[in-house]
Amino acid sequence: MSDRFGHIPVLMDEVLRVLHPKPGETCVDCTAGLGGHAAAVGAILGSAGRVVLNDLDAGNLKRATATVEATGTPVTAIHGNFAELPWALTERGIAADMVLADLGFASSQVDDADRGLSFMRDGPLDMRLDPSKGLTAADLVNRAPEGELTKMIADLGEENQAAKIARKIVQARRETPIQSTSQLAEIVKAAVPWNPEHVRIHPATRAFQALRIAVNDELGSLDAFLAGMDAAIRGVGGGRSWLALGARVAIISFHSLEDRRVKEAFAGLVKQGLVEDEHGLIRASEAEQSANPRSRSAKMRAIRVV
Ligand SMILES: C[S@@+](CC[C@H](N)C(=O)[O-])C[C@H]1O[C@@H](n2cnc3c(N)ncnc32)[C@H](O)[C@@H]1O
Repeated sequence: MSDRFGHIPVLMDEVLRVLHPKPGETCVDCTAGLGGHAAAVGAILGSAGRVVLNDLDAGNLKRATATVEATGTPVTAIHGNFAELPWALTERGIAADMVLADLGFASSQVDDADRGLSFMRDGPLDMRLDPSKGLTAADLVNRAPEGELTKMIADLGEENQAAKIARKIVQARRETPIQSTSQLAEIVKAAVPWNPEHVRIHPATRAFQALRIAVNDELGSLDAFLAGMDAAIRGVGGGRSWLALGARVAIISFHSLEDRRVKEAFAGLVKQGLVEDEHGLIRASEAEQSANPRSRSAKMRAIRVV
């Protein structure tokens, strides 16, 4: 299913299978995006159910709200980081029967040159998913010490040429501040030899990924969310207030740094008999992978609170 913005939600059938929505239930979508998954769930929940939509991006949240409301299911929209969602839900007295997090960015964001997320589109080097606050990618590349840049590109981009790239960035910014995506892409390209016939991915791919993860503190947010989920399931801090007994939680990640965290958090809970993992690792089918290249790196894990 593709909406008018060209966004195709990944693993749609699998999400519906693991969340298993029933009329009247409450679904919390931590990463509303363009509302593709949430609308499909909402269509099953009906007017007696509720979809809670959360997103860092106010524009996406607005679009997702309209899309889900069109299904006739009531919506509660929360603008913010899902790291804070456990508190936001507790405050509102909401208990989720289903929780979905489809991590990363949406096509609307990457296609918008002004967001500065893509080296394929010239734009300001911003990368913030919530452009209303925080440091931009330009702030980072122009200010961070070389050692910090190397570590960030190596760790978050899993790039083995990180030191060379960081050195070139520092040399270049001495001449002129790095303000645009194409400027940075050229600097990275000059730092690492690239033969497109042998290496298919553009040399800037990993450095851009690292910067996006750092700018949005994506791993910190995921850790905070997983800790909040863990606490709710263990009954710490006032019990399972925002997670109903029997709740299904599904998380879709797009790189190994995220998947490792989800895998460990879920495995810890399974070991203690607090949740069940009935599905294992779920990947996109071959048909989906050829129809939607983004689905190739998608990994979904799911648990059920028992
Ligand atoms: C892959 S899209 C979700 C697509 C959605 N499942 C759909 O079907 O349309 C990811 C969304 O998560 C949001 N996002 C990423 N990190 C977030 C965070 N820490 N807190 C809240 N929203 C976040 C992004 O702004 C983006 O809109």
